[in-house]
Amino acid sequence: MPRKSLPRHVAIIMDGNGRWAQSRKLDRVEGHREGARSVRAIVETARRLGVRYLTLYAFSTENWGRPTAEVRSLMELLGEYLEDELKEMMDQQIRLRAIGSLDQLPGPTREKLEKTMRATRRNRRMDLILALSYGGRQEILDAVNSAVRARNGNAGKSSITEAGLRRHFYAPDVPDPDLVIRTSGELRLSNFLLWQSAYSELYVTETLWPDFREKEFKGALRAYEKRERRFGLTREQVTA
Ligand code: FPP
Repeated sequence: MPRKSLPRHVAIIMDGNGRWAQSRKLDRVEGHREGARSVRAIVETARRLGVRYLTLYAFSTENWGRPTAEVRSLMELLGEYLEDELKEMMDQQIRLRAIGSLDQLPGPTREKLEKTMRATRRNRRMDLILALSYGGRQEILDAVNSAVRARNGNAGKSSITEAGLRRHFYAPDVPDPDLVIRTSGELRLSNFLLWQSAYSELYVTETLWPDFREKEFKGALRAYEKRERRFGLTREQVTA
């Protein structure tokens, strides 16, 4: 794939673990377990192809409302993933980051997360960003509140600008996603990167997340390659 048309930042709404399990008469947790294998495969593929930022929607603010046992299993799977993959992240120069209301995570999960983030912080080949206890509206609210706090006592009181607000997002240095992928066919953003996805290309596949592997990921990248990104301009302007 020519590097020019490779998206710098790919963000994925990993959906369909439950349906994958139910169609096999398995517990939903088995779907999440297989979904974690897809996470491993896609991280490896993205890194190998040269994607610079990969954001995965692993747990939304709304997911706290799921049955306690499912939430617990998801947190355990996340902890296992972090422990198992640390060596690979170091070998592959992957920096682990997280966005979301991280203070809501159970203590042991947060500790593993912080440990992995600390250990990998100097890695520079790819940023793997896990959206955990993440809500797009919450991120915007947090940014607004933080921006207002920062202005308190500031005599100028000029309006908050786009660039000014961005500085208060969870990961301000990360460029907006070029491509947002959603698996399992649902046509919605589900509170994911609401601000940042304003001009992202969207790719929705019927494939369920546990079945989404290298071949499917490359299919999404090929579809992206054919898109014409205009950012609100005319075709003549962007092709000039
Ligand atoms: C959506 O499927 C998926 C989730 C809510 C969680 C995603 C978690 C993983 C892929 C595994 C653990 C994560 C990591 C980073 C190792 P769903 O349960 O909403 O599926 P359904 O819509 O078919 O019910």
